[in-house]
Amino acid sequence: MNVKVFKVENLYIKNQCYLIHNDGIGVLIDPAWDYSLINDYIISNGINLKAVLLTHSHLDHVNLAQKFSEVYDIPVFMSEKEIEDSGFRAQNLNSVSHLGTIETIEYFTILPILTPGHTLGSTCYLVDNNLFTGDTVFIEGVGICNRDDAYKLYESVQFLKSNVSQDTLIWPGHSFGDSPGKDLQYLLKNNIYFQLENAEHFVDFRTRKNRPNPFMFK
Ligand SMILES: [Fe+2]
Repeated sequence: MNVKVFKVENLYIKNQCYLIHNDGIGVLIDPAWDYSLINDYIISNGINLKAVLLTHSHLDHVNLAQKFSEVYDIPVFMSEKEIEDSGFRAQNLNSVSHLGTIETIEYFTILPILTPGHTLGSTCYLVDNNLFTGDTVFIEGVGICNRDDAYKLYESVQFLKSNVSQDTLIWPGHSFGDSPGKDLQYLLKNNIYFQLENAEHFVDFRTRKNRPNPFMFK
């Protein structure tokens, strides 16, 4: 299976969206901002697009979901919790549940893992040894959250540490210096939020006040 990374941006924000594809069959993850960049790749590689997966409902992750859904007449997937909590709507929107199966995508085995924290219904998608993490986990840190939600994010990180194999490649929605696609073993050594073994320490550190901005992870 191939993972194609698209680096996209609008005026204020840079993010990464992904196309997984195998034997000409593809699924998009969090498409945003640059329709032509993504669509030209799909067309020039003759990819038959089957679905859009959304990690959460923030605009920089869902911006082109409806458009791809309409143009290719394909389903969009988001966690039931995120749909309920955010009110997100799109054509052909389907819900996924924690560790549930996505039966309508028969070409890949995709495991949704509910990882609340950044948002209540944030979801990572495990496909073979690739984990698409949205804004839950970055290579360098973890997503923005308030103090209450940081406890949830701590539990989500613990879940990933316990249930995802160390050779899994991590594909986050944003990068802050490191390139995407590092394995979980790299994060265990370099991402401080994977090293904090105590919820209070994790929450205190993530929500500490003396940072110039919330993306200063260390
Ligand atoms: Fe977000």
